[in-house]
Amino acid sequence: MSKAGRLVVLVSGSGTNLQALLDASADPSYGARVVAVGADRDGIAGLDRAEKAKVPTFVEKLADHPSRAEWDDALAARIAAYEPDLVVAAGFMKILGEPTIGAFPVVNTHPALLPSFPGAHGVRDALAHGVKVTGCTVMLADSGVDTGPIIAQEAVSVLPDDDEASLHERIKSVERRLLVDIVGRMVREGWTVSGRVVRIGNQTGGESK
Ligand code: GRF
Repeated sequence: MSKAGRLVVLVSGSGTNLQALLDASADPSYGARVVAVGADRDGIAGLDRAEKAKVPTFVEKLADHPSRAEWDDALAARIAAYEPDLVVAAGFMKILGEPTIGAFPVVNTHPALLPSFPGAHGVRDALAHGVKVTGCTVMLADSGVDTGPIIAQEAVSVLPDDDEASLHERIKSVERRLLVDIVGRMVREGWTVSGRVVRIGNQTGGESK
């Protein structure tokens, strides 16, 4: 079997998506392993999960840099040091700049069915809009807010008594499974992007645009 794909996972919070990737990569047949976890803040459960799994971590805070551009450069350099095949933004609450998205393929996950309800409050906004079906989207990151080419989506029904927390929890259990599945398939099978259409497979690895 070929060498496991190298994943750098970026987190800002509880890191349950990260945990799902860590758990999946314990099986060599998954084909990918988490080589580092980066964050934009400290004191978060996501970093604790990485440390528990003995995965190296790094923190690059925006406030520690004179400008956003310098933070973008510093973050990209931290990521590059781990030579990732794929970067996974798993609940990373910052827009990634050109130094990162120009250098690495980045998979992002969002708790709504894009292009509806992008941004930091996708669950709250869907609920407030009164939709009866929402879900999650796994996409390639680009320079916009949740605007990149969609790789996979799955629907989740909104229940009459849902609040933001209950709905988000149900979405997250679907999201974790979808993210693990898609990341593994991308690393094992490769992918292509044609316009906005992403296709997994028919490649021995890597990306062609
Ligand atoms: C996920 O729903 C992600 O899509 C959103 O924040 C949540 C992160 O959850 N941006 P976790 O930190 O992986 O538990």
